[in-house]
Amino acid sequence: MKRIKAIYPGSFDPPTNGHLDLIERGSKIFDELVVAILRNPEKDPLFSVSDRRKMLEAMTSAFDNVAVDTFDGLTVDYALRVEATAILRGIRAVSDYEYELQMALMNRKLQPGLETVFMMPAEKYSYLSSRLVREVAQLGGSIECLVPDLVAQKLREKMDVAHKFENGEKTAVKPSPDAKSKSRRKKAT
Ligand code: PNS
Repeated sequence: MKRIKAIYPGSFDPPTNGHLDLIERGSKIFDELVVAILRNPEKDPLFSVSDRRKMLEAMTSAFDNVAVDTFDGLTVDYALRVEATAILRGIRAVSDYEYELQMALMNRKLQPGLETVFMMPAEKYSYLSSRLVREVAQLGGSIECLVPDLVAQKLREKMDVAHKFENGEKTAVKPSPDAKSKSRRKKAT
């Protein structure tokens, strides 16, 4: 019987409960799902790729058919390399649609054999994005219920380091500044 392998590509900086919700849904409809973290040298992320990988591995350890990997270059090339036939992406609201449609159609143009499958996370996560989580955490707001506990803990550690740095503690290392908001129309991930 044909097994369907999908990739779920993204930045995951940091992974949120919305991502986890989508991973759980994806794991139910695909035989295999690879959560693929983009290694993007142009972005200045809050968390290193290795930190994001560790967080996602811990978050998805209960799902037998979910793996975590990293990639660079084109998503379609990565999908072919790992022999996936589908790309999973989440659509939270109408505002995501235009960007996602553009990306799905470009990916189809590049690789007609690959299908993009859109899934909707639970409504309670429809406002949730990694960008907003970073902003709320950086400004001292509560991020409980938005991200898994282990991610909240990592965010608190980052914010403590930033706080110490701002207070002039020389041993503290300044965390990377947040990625600049895109001038292009791009959904908040
Ligand atoms: O979580 P994000 O930031 O919305 O994920 C965007 C991502 C990683 C899926 C997208 O930027 C991507 O696919 N980048 C890889 C480069 C690529 O394939 N570009 C052409 C996309 S049409």
